[in-house]
Amino acid sequence: MVGAGSSMIDRPLTAACGIAEAAAPGCVHVHTVFDEATFTATHIARDPATGKAAIIDSVLDFDPASGRTSTGCADQVIAYVEAAGLAVEWLLETHVHADHLSAAPYLQERLGGTLAIGRDILTVQSVFGSIFNEGPDFARDGSQFDHLLEDGERFRLGSLDAIALHVPGHTPADMAYIIGDTAFIGDTLFMPDYGTARVDFPGGDARTLYRSIHRLLALPDQTRVFLCHDYKAPDRDRFVWQTTIGEERRDNVHVHPGITEDAFAAMREARDATLGMPRLILPSIQINMRGGHLPEPEDNGTRYLKLPLNSL
Ligand SMILES: [Fe+2]
Repeated sequence: MVGAGSSMIDRPLTAACGIAEAAAPGCVHVHTVFDEATFTATHIARDPATGKAAIIDSVLDFDPASGRTSTGCADQVIAYVEAAGLAVEWLLETHVHADHLSAAPYLQERLGGTLAIGRDILTVQSVFGSIFNEGPDFARDGSQFDHLLEDGERFRLGSLDAIALHVPGHTPADMAYIIGDTAFIGDTLFMPDYGTARVDFPGGDARTLYRSIHRLLALPDQTRVFLCHDYKAPDRDRFVWQTTIGEERRDNVHVHPGITEDAFAAMREARDATLGMPRLILPSIQINMRGGHLPEPEDNGTRYLKLPLNSL
């Protein structure tokens, strides 16, 4: 387990990197920008042999009091990519985030890359299109993204083999991306001392998450794992976003050996009943279900978000 208290940390290629069965051998270099405002880890995965990169789960800063967006986090990503001389091939979203806005369109404009998410984004767009009473101008066919990844779809990052796995439960559309030797698992598992993702958003399901998690835990023990979030566990004073499948299988406080699906579902549902909605859920979902694009301006040139009352 490694981590850092600073907002940025470099993770050099090491000889110890493991090899995931689901992908061909290959060590990927990972650099992480951590946003303490939303506890989100944006990972920049690169193939050292070619300098091709994927940016996974970016953050557009948002101040809900003023309704103002800004690009401090995304600009850190751009600065790293440019300084390292990387060519961005992919902008990958693990799911429609409920706690931060995606900066994917801003990054794509400056760095290029193919914006991709899982095929089940269509389900999320349908559910939240209804909740926000979106009109016909809101496409529910995933066309805001350049590519919709299927479960088991193989793709390349430079010379590295990669595979997309559908791991629903937190939301219907969650994906994990295994690139070379390393798994980027979004909101499924958190650090072993913190547990697992909540399942109480529309379309979430504890039993589905349990099965998705066990799909990930079937990867080889040495597989490196990068998380989308860290909130610090009660006994930990620093943020950590990297672990291994072996550590998760042995030590995860919610799914360690002996925890049945029934026990997990009961625990997860009881815990979720105590959680408030994420601070940015309403703005986040309206923007992220559009691939990170802001809603079109109204006739006065201003863009607006909706605030559905008594809906969530
Ligand atoms: Fe999430």
